[in-house]
Amino acid sequence: MALPAHAGRKAKRIALVNSKGGTGKSTIAMNLAAYYQSCRIPTTVYDFDPQESLATWAGERPSCSTPIAAVTAARKPDAGTTRTWQLRAPENTRRIILDTPAGLCGSSLQEIVRCVDSLIIPVGPSPLDSRATARFVQELMLVGKAREQRVRIAVVANRHRPDSSVCPALVRFLSALRIPIVTVLNDSNLYLQAAERGVGLHELPLPDAQIEMRRWRPLLRWLEAGLARETARCAWSERSAATARPARHA
Ligand SMILES: Nc1ncnc2c1ncn2[C@@H]1O[C@H](COP(=O)(O)OP(=O)(O)OP(=O)(O)O)[C@@H](O)[C@H]1O
Ligand SMILES: [Mg+2]
Repeated sequence: MALPAHAGRKAKRIALVNSKGGTGKSTIAMNLAAYYQSCRIPTTVYDFDPQESLATWAGERPSCSTPIAAVTAARKPDAGTTRTWQLRAPENTRRIILDTPAGLCGSSLQEIVRCVDSLIIPVGPSPLDSRATARFVQELMLVGKAREQRVRIAVVANRHRPDSSVCPALVRFLSALRIPIVTVLNDSNLYLQAAERGVGLHELPLPDAQIEMRRWRPLLRWLEAGLARETARCAWSERSAATARPARHA
């Protein structure tokens, strides 16, 4: 499930992960991709799920919305095509959004962790979701070695209803690991409407969609803050490399 290093060389990579099914990985991937693309940040989606919800959605974008490049990464390459060729991204790609299937674990999880900058873990409101997510986070740390890979991790509480709250045990567990719950998204038919039309929530011309978009701001800020820090670090090391005195040779 790895992405070769050259795929979107200048792109920052964000993966949606949770071994529990139906928590909102594809839905959040769609909305992130649509948001970045409409900010004129060239975005490519990689669909590692054989269900191909994300790639299908990208293929169904209306002609008035900016197109989003999609790679059906769960498929075997066509005859005569290499895997590297299959996984190439357009040269100008700046954000890569990876959607992953339910049941992600073991070496597939390790490969995803190794090849991305940020991981977003959506969690549904039920106690079963919370328990499964806690187990997944453990796997992410122990098997995925997420700390060693220095990948940034955040949780998104998804499908929130007025009477639901994130399970306190999960909140304590995440807080002990210093993993933030960056935002809480509502359980809303707007997400279904947007998915059906091949758009993101912010592209629906409905006041309620714009109100729900406010809940995305903390996630977008968290993502961009991490990316900005990395860019600053890169710029700094490039500058220091450029100004560093050449080593003396004996
Ligand atoms: N915030 C939300 N409000 C309402 N419905 C939602 C929300 N998020 C996701 N859904 C719906 O829940 C269902 C599951 O979401 P989605 O397919 O994004 O989950 P997933 O984690 O990708 O699932 P899988 O593990 O099977 O790939 C979909 O029908 C989706 O439209
Ligand atoms: Mg999915």
